[in-house]
Amino acid sequence: FQPKSLVGQHVLVSAGPTFEAIDPVRGITNLSSGKMGFAIARAAQEAGAEVTLVAGPVALATPRGVRRIDVVSALEMMQACVAEADQAHVFIATAAVADWRPDSAATQKIKKDGSGQTPTLGFVENPDILATLAQSPRGVSGDLFCVGFAAESHDLLAHATAKRARKKVPLLVGNIGPATFGQDDNALLLVDAQGAKEIPRNSKLALARLLIADIAARLASQSA
Ligand code: C5P
Repeated sequence: FQPKSLVGQHVLVSAGPTFEAIDPVRGITNLSSGKMGFAIARAAQEAGAEVTLVAGPVALATPRGVRRIDVVSALEMMQACVAEADQAHVFIATAAVADWRPDSAATQKIKKDGSGQTPTLGFVENPDILATLAQSPRGVSGDLFCVGFAAESHDLLAHATAKRARKKVPLLVGNIGPATFGQDDNALLLVDAQGAKEIPRNSKLALARLLIADIAARLASQSA
């Protein structure tokens, strides 16, 4: 049973990897499965929120009652999240957005010419969706409560604390390793201005429900 703690709230979730095209048949991506973001979207919907899920390329079913917007690249994800954020009260950024994209995607497939020469790729940095929304007027005022995620291989508390400050978000959630991509369970470290607390290892859906309950409590105390 989930208490309907988010009735009247609109929750925006980004999930999955992004795919950055090199040419029409090739690209760069990462191993994010999207499972945590989809579980969070489901848990928020169960808690009574109106939920919009902006998803990169993943092989997952849309949780019931959730509005899903499929995107491919970081720029598309940015555009969709910025457009949706105006109506949202909470933004939970779980997507593993590619840090860089090829500086120019070829319009035709790059061919081997038989000479043994290899192509050279140049990159440009993608925009930081979470930092952009956290530093937007509604993010700064707290009308859009922004939550970031961090996957680190070591020194999680130190990195999560630094990332929270850098992205200027009230809450940063660290994935307690080892590598959680594609797994069905995880443990979380919640880092806020007061310090850190752990949600012990559990299924991603159970963790998502606990995280949503925690966020709902933060919103309630904000408006109290
Ligand atoms: O900087 P890093 O990628 O480690 O930060 C992770 C957090 O920032 C996640 O919440 C992720 O969804 C978000 N992010 C983003 N846009 C980017 C890079 C990361 O929203 N371009």
